[in-house]
Amino acid sequence: MNLFDLSGEVAVVIGATGALGGAMAKALGSAGAAVAVVGRNAERGQACVQAVQAGGGRAAFFTADALVREDLVRIEREITAAFGTPSILVNAAGGNDPKATVTADLRFEDIGIDAWRGNFDLNLVGGVLLPCQVFGPGLCARGRGSVINIASVSAHIPLSRVVSYSASKAAVLSLTQFLAREWAPSGVRVNSLTPGFFPAEQNRRLLFQEDGSPTPRAQSILGHTPMGRFGKADELAGATIFLASAKAAGFVTGSDVRVDGGFLSQTI
Ligand SMILES: NC(=O)c1ccc[n+]([C@@H]2O[C@H](COP(=O)([O-])OP(=O)(O)OC[C@H]3O[C@@H](n4cnc5c(N)ncnc54)[C@H](OP(=O)(O)O)[C@@H]3O)[C@@H](O)[C@H]2O)c1
Repeated sequence: MNLFDLSGEVAVVIGATGALGGAMAKALGSAGAAVAVVGRNAERGQACVQAVQAGGGRAAFFTADALVREDLVRIEREITAAFGTPSILVNAAGGNDPKATVTADLRFEDIGIDAWRGNFDLNLVGGVLLPCQVFGPGLCARGRGSVINIASVSAHIPLSRVVSYSASKAAVLSLTQFLAREWAPSGVRVNSLTPGFFPAEQNRRLLFQEDGSPTPRAQSILGHTPMGRFGKADELAGATIFLASAKAAGFVTGSDVRVDGGFLSQTI
């Protein structure tokens, strides 16, 4: 038995137009799942489809704003018509609004409520809640399935400055465990994956100066990462396939898998 064979599975990857979601989509496709690449940016969506196909997988792009319930309901119909009932849901849409980040010019007490709510809307509501509400009943009716939510090291210990991002990602861990308990009787497993620091669009300005050299914050992150480097998006492949596979992870639910180069194990 190949523990990591996903043939016959249908994977929905929301945020596959991004760095981490794209790598996860490629991984699922290479393991045999048909992959629904979901996001708002069609150009990056098509590039992801081509990358999955180049790796020997099947994929198609479906446009949706994760914050718009009707979009998610529509794509669930479209994906089911194209590939069959989804059995794997990856929630990889998310990011941080710089307007909700503490800086030399913006104190914690002056963060605007709209920017604060924006991070919670993106990372918790569109990032996990709505996709789970829309795709969850189908997964449960099928009697088996795997949901993978993307948390963050800042969900475990809040990073400096990105206060609402950290709080929203901590809520992702809580919702993951709630749903793991809720859906276990229906055979649906719900886990989270905690990436360390991986260069991507949403954190580019925090990590790199205009000339491409690391910012002081990036240097501090690398100094706090026992492996002394950033992650590469493809390094999420193994954890993604493991969590997605009922054969490999059939008794794994409510857990969090860290792929962080040891970041959360470092104190002094
Ligand atoms: N990179 C890291 O170091 C790191 C570390 C920990 C956690 N994470 C988390 O990993 C996830 C992926 O981030 P990334 O690093 O890969 O960043 P990224 O390359 O900027 O990707 C972000 C993704 O979120 C999608 N997205 C944003 N708003 C959306 C919306 N309203 N509807 C649908 N999709 C939306 C974007 O899709 P469109 O542009 O197509 O809308 C894009 O695919 C996020 O949850 C992030 O917080 C990243």
